[in-house]
Amino acid sequence: MSDIRVWVDGALVGADTPAVSAVDHGVTVGDGAFETAKIEHSTPFAITRHLRRLDRTVAGLGLPPADHARIREGVEAVLGGKPIGFGRLRFTVTGGRGPLGSDRQDSDLTHIVTAVPHARPDAHGAVVTVPWVRNERAATAGLKTTSYADNVIALARAKHQGAHEALLANTRGELCEATGSNVFVVVDGVVRTPPLASGCLAGITRELVLEWCAADGLEVVEEALPLDVLTRADEVFLTSSIKDVFPVSAVDGRALPAPGPVSARVQQVWAEHAALGVDP
Ligand SMILES: Cc1ncc(COP(=O)(O)O)c(C=O)c1O
Repeated sequence: MSDIRVWVDGALVGADTPAVSAVDHGVTVGDGAFETAKIEHSTPFAITRHLRRLDRTVAGLGLPPADHARIREGVEAVLGGKPIGFGRLRFTVTGGRGPLGSDRQDSDLTHIVTAVPHARPDAHGAVVTVPWVRNERAATAGLKTTSYADNVIALARAKHQGAHEALLANTRGELCEATGSNVFVVVDGVVRTPPLASGCLAGITRELVLEWCAADGLEVVEEALPLDVLTRADEVFLTSSIKDVFPVSAVDGRALPAPGPVSARVQQVWAEHAALGVDP
């Protein structure tokens, strides 16, 4: 994280410089929304869709709308300077200064934009299931809030077991998503993925895979899947803004082709469509 760039409410600041109030509601109670987008050649991918999802999260939290012009100003600021070949752009909007409890006070939102170059993701990786669940009935279900501690714990467990990612079920025992990715399985030659009603995030990559596969005549079914579909799926892949379409090489130690033939086709569909423009 040597070259992390940070912009807070109008100014670039040093990564280690205090720039957000200690009583910011994002800090005290995780009252905020964020987005992570891929950067390639100093350009963010699918920024309009990320801004739209940020709006949904902010509205779901009951906060006033985020200032897109401010965020775009921050994006320009962090992407100026030394070019970033590949990396991560993150923008965060919090409730601003608040009391120490869950109540809100009338306050300006805090807008934060960061960018960091890093290595491209691996070509594939293993995943494990974890015993914790996504609550598809939670007030924050489907929102990308800054309260990510559940994901931090689950991912730490996966990493401890030598895996790349952790897969979670929801309270009904259905396959839901991973800590920072959506999940797809191939069963009987058909690509399947949990519906948004499973409580998963409406991933931008997931959404584009659905749209682009439909456009190319490759069937993808959104359906509730029992968690144990993972014990019989022929192929599994994850999707996320950083990993794109990411083949899974093993689930809980059961080896899988990575990529299998169907996943390879989805990767091809992805690559062809993604090459057409940076803001699909
Ligand atoms: C919980 C969760 N699910 C899914 C995703 C994938 O979403 P996207 O494709 O928009 O990156 C993310 C992304 O960070 C996530 O945090």
